Amino acid sequence: MAGAEVRNRWWYFGSFMTSPRTILITGASSGIGAALATAYAREQVTLVLMGRNEDRLSHVSSVCRDKGACVVKAVHDIADTDGFLDALSELDRHWCFDLVIFNAGVGDTRAPLQQTEAPQQVVRLLDINLRGPAAGASLIAERMIARGEGGAIAMISSVAAFVPLPMAAGYAASKAGLNAFALSLNAALREHGIAVSVICPGYVDTPMSARLNTFKPFQIKPEAAASAIMACIASKRALAIIPFQYAAACFILKFVPAGLAVWLSSKFSLDASPYGAAGQPERVTAGTADSSSAQVDIR
Ligand SMILES: NC(=O)c1ccc[n+]([C@@H]2O[C@H](COP(=O)([O-])OP(=O)(O)OC[C@H]3O[C@@H](n4cnc5c(N)ncnc54)[C@H](OP(=O)(O)O)[C@@H]3O)[C@@H](O)[C@H]2O)c1
Repeated sequence: MAGAEVRNRWWYFGSFMTSPRTILITGASSGIGAALATAYAREQVTLVLMGRNEDRLSHVSSVCRDKGACVVKAVHDIADTDGFLDALSELDRHWCFDLVIFNAGVGDTRAPLQQTEAPQQVVRLLDINLRGPAAGASLIAERMIARGEGGAIAMISSVAAFVPLPMAAGYAASKAGLNAFALSLNAALREHGIAVSVICPGYVDTPMSARLNTFKPFQIKPEAAASAIMACIASKRALAIIPFQYAAACFILKFVPAGLAVWLSSKFSLDASPYGAAGQPERVTAGTADSSSAQVDIR
């Protein structure tokens, strides 16, 4: 490859990180995903917004269109992994994404009076928070490599990846797995000019955290989380913990022996309102969203 072409490609890789043109965001119908969609929305940007709840997705889409973006709505349930991968493949074939943000996720805790989460609950958490995004990131990585134009993949994890959570072992495991996957993928994709970032927020004021009946230190607004996540993606951070107070706490935790961390966390208790309780988000079951085929609406 000629020197000038190499320089142009590097210029291209560097520039689209700060202003990607075609972006897919999963979990764009609410919370952090909706804030990311709104923050990335502008003229000459195509946003593919994925979620299960069509009404919420439509609301976010219209806000993004008002800011000048071209918006594609994709209603899909990530728990249906095969259908999700088919939808991703079809969408990427059409839009050739510069940036894909795997943000969708569910949080859950063990039921009151139970010592562990139900087995089905653990399977569901791992399917939505880890299996779907990891398989999806592999698919997108393969396609970006084949195009040879670089790209960026971001995965929204959690500080729950770093601490034992007796009331939410499935959630903690899904996020720890996501971190391990994203860091390995990062190492694998470097030579292809594809940046992989995994971003671990502390508490963010969204419907997910509203379900948690607990004190939420250093909680930030979804807009603040979105702008920190965008900065991490633009600077190709491999792993970031936001806000900085949680980064400092996770750094200190590295020096705490595992036995002590487990003992301390066993003293900590937290429970979540069931999905659909007053004022809380409805859990959308596989029967509510069309899990047999992706519904895509391009406007
Ligand atoms: N909020 C926090 O304190 C916090 C802290 C650390 C990490 N996080 C992570 O940040 C991410 C976003 O969470 P959030 O706080 O913004 O939560 P949220 O407001 O509840 O939004 C979750 C999003 O994920 C989508 N989603 C959930 N299950 C899905 C499925 N099976 N298929 C497709 N989409 C699905 C939802 O779509 P529908 O609306 O259509 O159901 C929604 O758009 C999650 O990965 C979460 O683990 C959040």
